Amino acid sequence: MTEAYRWWQRGVVYQIYPRSFMDSNGDGIGDLPGITARLDYLQRLGVDAIWISPFYPSPMADFGYDIANYVDVDPIFGTLADFDVLLAAAHTRGLRVILDLVPNHTSDQHPWFRESRTARDNPKRDWYLWRDPGPDGGPPNNWLSNFGGSAWAWDAATGQYYLHSFVKEQPDLNLRNPAVEAAIADVMRFWLDRGVDGFRADVMHGMLKDDQWRDNPPNPHWAPNSNPYLAQLQIYSRNRPDAHPIIARMRRLVDSYPGDRVLIGEIYLPNEQLMQYYGPNLDEAHLPFNFQLIALPWSAPLVRQAVDAYEAALPPGGWPNWVLGNHDRHRLASRVGPAQARVGLLLLLTLRGTPTWYYGDEIGMQDVPIPPEQVQDPWEKNVPGLGLGRDPERTPMQWDAGPYAGFSTVPPWLPVADDYRTVNVAMEEQDPTSSLALCRAVLALRGRTPALQVGSYRAVPAGDPDVFAYLRTAGDSRWLVVLNLGPESHTCVLTDPGGTALIQVSTYLDRQGTAALSALSVRPHEGLLLECDNTLLLQTPLSPA
Ligand code: NOJ
Ligand code: CA
Repeated sequence: MTEAYRWWQRGVVYQIYPRSFMDSNGDGIGDLPGITARLDYLQRLGVDAIWISPFYPSPMADFGYDIANYVDVDPIFGTLADFDVLLAAAHTRGLRVILDLVPNHTSDQHPWFRESRTARDNPKRDWYLWRDPGPDGGPPNNWLSNFGGSAWAWDAATGQYYLHSFVKEQPDLNLRNPAVEAAIADVMRFWLDRGVDGFRADVMHGMLKDDQWRDNPPNPHWAPNSNPYLAQLQIYSRNRPDAHPIIARMRRLVDSYPGDRVLIGEIYLPNEQLMQYYGPNLDEAHLPFNFQLIALPWSAPLVRQAVDAYEAALPPGGWPNWVLGNHDRHRLASRVGPAQARVGLLLLLTLRGTPTWYYGDEIGMQDVPIPPEQVQDPWEKNVPGLGLGRDPERTPMQWDAGPYAGFSTVPPWLPVADDYRTVNVAMEEQDPTSSLALCRAVLALRGRTPALQVGSYRAVPAGDPDVFAYLRTAGDSRWLVVLNLGPESHTCVLTDPGGTALIQVSTYLDRQGTAALSALSVRPHEGLLLECDNTLLLQTPLSPA
């Protein structure tokens, strides 16, 4: 029954931050040959696709999200030939490869911008967002950079400001200019022709700005000493309705290639606005990223409410997706605690919709505190001390208990976590109760269970406020997920469905066998995946409860 679904609906996406995955040449920075060397690990893990954050030539002002050439590989990461080897090796193993597409901005070192800034009448001037000063001689409006301060940088040579939604070394492109849109389409073709399976488009909701350049209003809910960017409601500097036709054209381009390529959008917006990025005819992003699990307070009623609200908000035919972590947000195990991290992984891998997780979350990697003198992230440098910096979640993958966790032979660009001697792939591969073993077990079950891949979702009462329970159903096959998001043990009373079920997986990986759902005990921080076996149900008298 899963044949009717695309790989990006059935499958699981694994995000690789290339600087931190595997260093193959001993310079302390991860690279493409390093990823290739670790593909067997990913295949064994059971994921279906990797999304690789940018590896294009870049001055690294924002660690690769400032691109100086969209159609090459930065020497730090390797060569185009290395990329071709990686792609072929991934495909041989049945792994799809999704690239990061950054259409909103380039590096200030991109030849387009270098030309654009030479003169007001340069043919590339209009490729970026240049404006005269405001009436007071200052910036043209009050828009803020995501990474602190005004979004406008002054260019003394030509007497105008340019817009940068991120650091000033990342000037925003003018996607209203058809030549710019065409240039980005060429970039997409370059990689699609090479055989990539799709794109994750950076700040998809930010590609167009208000054409009247209106000031953003203040955010009445902003708390002083919190992220200064949130002091405004960003209603004019992003999420503009006229961006949708551009996204639809990107989608058409992706769809024009054979082999089910995918377009994923990075979009941080509430449900109602997020859903617009599926497109009025499901003709925009296949998957507008759903980041709720990263942001939600970790409580069973709130998670359940969020899942139900998201399910209810989806447009007909729109395929759901869930993201548990990424290179911009603190690590799962640090957000919810190491004990709950496994519950989070089981949730991610059993909700309805495509899961995306972040490298290292499968072994329980945590944020690493970064001493001030080792800070790399421009956000932390610009807006220090508020916990916004992203270095803690970008530290080297912990492969083994050897020097530098097997990531490199020299001190890496960010420090390795202190816990690497016990939290690492090699150890967890030997431990049948590890977090890695849990991910493998759940992915293996998912891989052969249509109900878990594409079945319907319905929350069911569990009789306890700490417990979130839901059913995944496809035909006669019914699977029950019971997640204890709290630190106490509970006896759940499940009557819908009632009867007996088979425990297939506990997040502790220490129990299996039948269980009566009318009195199902769950331990602190335990998640259970149960198969509601119809044969068993027939044999077992339903409990009166
Ligand atoms: C979102 C990316 O995920 C983030 O890492 C980056 O800094 C900004 N977009 C700018 O490209
Ligand atoms: Ca390297």
